[in-house]
Amino acid sequence: LFEGAAAASHSAIPFGAAVSDGPLQTDAAYQKALIEHCQLLVGEGGLKWADLRPSPSQYVYDQPDRLIAFAEANGMKMRGHTLAWYAAMPDWALQLKGETETSRELMTHIETVVGRYKGRIPSWDVVNEALSDDGPRVGLRDSVWSANLGEYYIDLAFHTARAADPAAQLVINDYGLEAATAKSSARRRAMLDLLRRLRDRDVPVQALGFQAHLPGNEEIDKDEVSRFVSDVKDMGLDVLVTELDVIDDQLPADIKERDAIAAKRVGALLGAILDVTRPTAVVTWGITDRYTWVPIWYKRADGHANRPLPLDEDYREKPMMRTIKQAIAGA
Ligand code: G3I
Repeated sequence: LFEGAAAASHSAIPFGAAVSDGPLQTDAAYQKALIEHCQLLVGEGGLKWADLRPSPSQYVYDQPDRLIAFAEANGMKMRGHTLAWYAAMPDWALQLKGETETSRELMTHIETVVGRYKGRIPSWDVVNEALSDDGPRVGLRDSVWSANLGEYYIDLAFHTARAADPAAQLVINDYGLEAATAKSSARRRAMLDLLRRLRDRDVPVQALGFQAHLPGNEEIDKDEVSRFVSDVKDMGLDVLVTELDVIDDQLPADIKERDAIAAKRVGALLGAILDVTRPTAVVTWGITDRYTWVPIWYKRADGHANRPLPLDEDYREKPMMRTIKQAIAGA
């Protein structure tokens, strides 16, 4: 009781998780874990173009409507992911050609989707993964959006989202911003430069989303991340953690050791942010090791299951969950 009261009095930072549509519909233990641990939810899919837009004339809302109904029935808030991304695009949208057609389709999509959920999705990943990741120089990632509109697609996406829901938190979301590596340092610098250009063009970005898919075998650069967060805050932006998990394919097989290292990485990242500011939310990309994207791309060579998330495959709390709870309750 007292612990709960203490957390409430600190108005703890909201914690949430990405939700997979299949288990949401079929797995009661999964639903129970989401209700027990989360104050907010985001669809792992459902609000991506590939899910929403099978054809230029269609909007398919079944998946996001299912999730938002579950969230609202259980007093949880929603995040929307994502309005402009290079990936998870239907083939027809990848064929968009020229400024007029591309900007019309992007604006119509955002007006329609954000408008439908106006007031019910208070935070959107408007632009996801705008930074390139194909070499030492970090620039604007190639996409149907950047190919036809250049960097201006970002301006257009944010202005359109702002007009569609004036109250929503508008987020630019990216990965690889946390590690003590030259590559991560270059990405932090490129993101700062981009944010400054957007601010100088009065683009209504309100927050930077750290996806925080933390490479288990790389240290978090606490000082550099704190400095980066401070620079972002100095631009009047908030920060949040949007897709937290630990890519543990290179970590030891021993579960206790591996879980401890994973928790340490998460604690370092949250600590680096909290040393500067309160993130507006901390969201993990899934809640249980039973359902995670990680082995699709980072399957362990030793055949052991990945353990990237706060709960194990039987929904037992791992050190990572305790680390997260301590970090956000005490903030
Ligand atoms: O729903 C279809 C199903 O009908 C079809 O039978 C099946 C086989 O083709 O595909 C299903 O869609 C899959 C979808 O997940 C839902 O399970 C897509 O193929 C698959 O590509 C998609 O993967 C998601 C991926 O983003 C691409 O959208 C992952 O679950 C999701 O974890 C991952 O999340 C991304 C974030 O959006 C951005 N940051 C990185 C993160 C991890 O990659």
